[in-house]
Amino acid sequence: MTQVIVALDVDSMRRERELLLSLKDLGLWFKVGLQLFTAHGRRAVELARKEGGKVFLDLKLHDIPQTVALSVREAHKLGADAVSLHLMGGANMVRAAAEVSPRPKLWGVSVLTSMAEEDLKIFSPSVKLPALIKSLAKTGWSAGADATICSPRDVARLRRELPNLDMAFVTPGIRPAGAELGDQARVTTPAQAAALGVDYIVIGRPITHAPDPRKAALAILSEMQAAAPGALERR
Ligand code: C5P
Repeated sequence: MTQVIVALDVDSMRRERELLLSLKDLGLWFKVGLQLFTAHGRRAVELARKEGGKVFLDLKLHDIPQTVALSVREAHKLGADAVSLHLMGGANMVRAAAEVSPRPKLWGVSVLTSMAEEDLKIFSPSVKLPALIKSLAKTGWSAGADATICSPRDVARLRRELPNLDMAFVTPGIRPAGAELGDQARVTTPAQAAALGVDYIVIGRPITHAPDPRKAALAILSEMQAAAPGALERR
């Protein structure tokens, strides 16, 4: 069952409110990320909760275990339903975050899709991207994260190579067929992601920059429904 998370990558609460009102009652999640949070902080999250529904606070936490755990506690108080953290912060950091109770879902970033194998050579000259993503997903899972954030293209391989990994997948890099790619180089369509059984897809500009965001979101939902009937769960 694939949920759609709309990335509210905007700089004003006026624009945030317009988007939330136009997308009301479609059963979508909303992502408040670094831009909107830096600009408007908790008010942006409160608005998304009030007018939208479930909120993914995409702050990509990465710090010492104690600091991350305390931030996860604050994210819960703020009403976030999910918060992201970098799996590269290590098992102790993820475990400390997972031990917070009650807490939002913890979604672990594997490797940013903007990082190429070449960029990762700062860690080790022999590093291989697929092996690193697999090892981070495993680390996140065993330390208590609820999902791995990765490219949709990694999902089938991770499921195959780690069959016991009982964890969800969250994937950005989604573009409806024929849409502008923007800065996303390798993309998957919503239909392909639904067919892959990705749990949550994150979509920004194809909805937020569309002349009619509601129409764009409805087209995406119906494309997914056609690809994998029963793939959509409205919450
Ligand atoms: O507009 P677009 O659909 O490209 O937005 C995708 C969202 O997912 C953005 O908020 C972006 O920060 C986020 N994201 C991404 N690639 C990653 C991690 C996060 O595009 N690897």
